Amino acid sequence: MSGTNGHLADHSGHHFTTHFVESGGVDFDGDQTTALTETHLEEMRQIAARYPQPRSALLPMLHLVQSVEGRVSPAGIEACADVLGISAAEVSGVATFYTMYKRKPVGRHHVGVCTTALCAILGGDEVLATLQRHLGVGNDETTEDGAITLEHIECNAACDYAPVMMVNWEFFDQVTPESAVEVVDALREGREVVASRGARISSWREAERVLAGFPDNRADHGPTAGERSLLGLRIAREHGWAAPSPQVAEEVEPEVAGPAASEAEAVGDGQPDSSRRGAAERSTAEADAGTSTDSEHARGTTPGPEAKTSGAQASGEDQETT
Ligand code: FES
Repeated sequence: MSGTNGHLADHSGHHFTTHFVESGGVDFDGDQTTALTETHLEEMRQIAARYPQPRSALLPMLHLVQSVEGRVSPAGIEACADVLGISAAEVSGVATFYTMYKRKPVGRHHVGVCTTALCAILGGDEVLATLQRHLGVGNDETTEDGAITLEHIECNAACDYAPVMMVNWEFFDQVTPESAVEVVDALREGREVVASRGARISSWREAERVLAGFPDNRADHGPTAGERSLLGLRIAREHGWAAPSPQVAEEVEPEVAGPAASEAEAVGDGQPDSSRRGAAERSTAEADAGTSTDSEHARGTTPGPEAKTSGAQASGEDQETT
């Protein structure tokens, strides 16, 4: 099946029009050249060797392809399939499912503006509209100089700093239309840009290589989890609140009343209600801190296939000392 401008034809010659021409699969009919070398294939084998089931390595391998090709290329798909012993269709199915895998070449920097509910309400929509006007591009388009690919993205688990913007998956917290324009202007001019939580901005391709599991040795750049993300944890510690042990939670049979009741009951050791609420809050605080820890994977401290890069580089040690 092939076609242009939304008109597709199958092998029997039937034509029809697609309304999703920009959302199609990998461009197997387009540019087939590749920058992948034997060195990259060897790196793919290294990634595959990290997993008990080699096919589990597909996600980081696709990030490696993007770090070389600037997108998921047909040649990259074939290479992943060869290394993993699976079909190109299986690789393509994964590559076209996740939004972090790009079918069109990405610019030097990827700028994502969160437009999920909380960020949108607090200004994310206006930030995106301002950047689109300022850069002269629509969603998922790249500026003519190849510097910026702009995309609206979904919640990046940084709602406590809404509205957030990501540059190559580094956090820019509580952005305004003006501050967002300053950031993209600096990126286009090649000036040094530092994310809100400390990391110096590299290129999107460099970030993709980190996501593939090849550290850039900058995991400890800048501060770690933000104060707002750890606030619940600090409050819980000030009050001496603690979550129930897993054994206690397992021993208590949950009632029909649902998860909230079960959680309170699991703490049911004669503590006052305020302590029970505290246990729940602490769990939430730990979950918040855990979000940042996930982000750390992508800095390369541990390979984490679909994690973000390290805007919030919360380490267990930092959570202990905050
Ligand atoms: S809604 Fe934007 S980070 Fe959650």
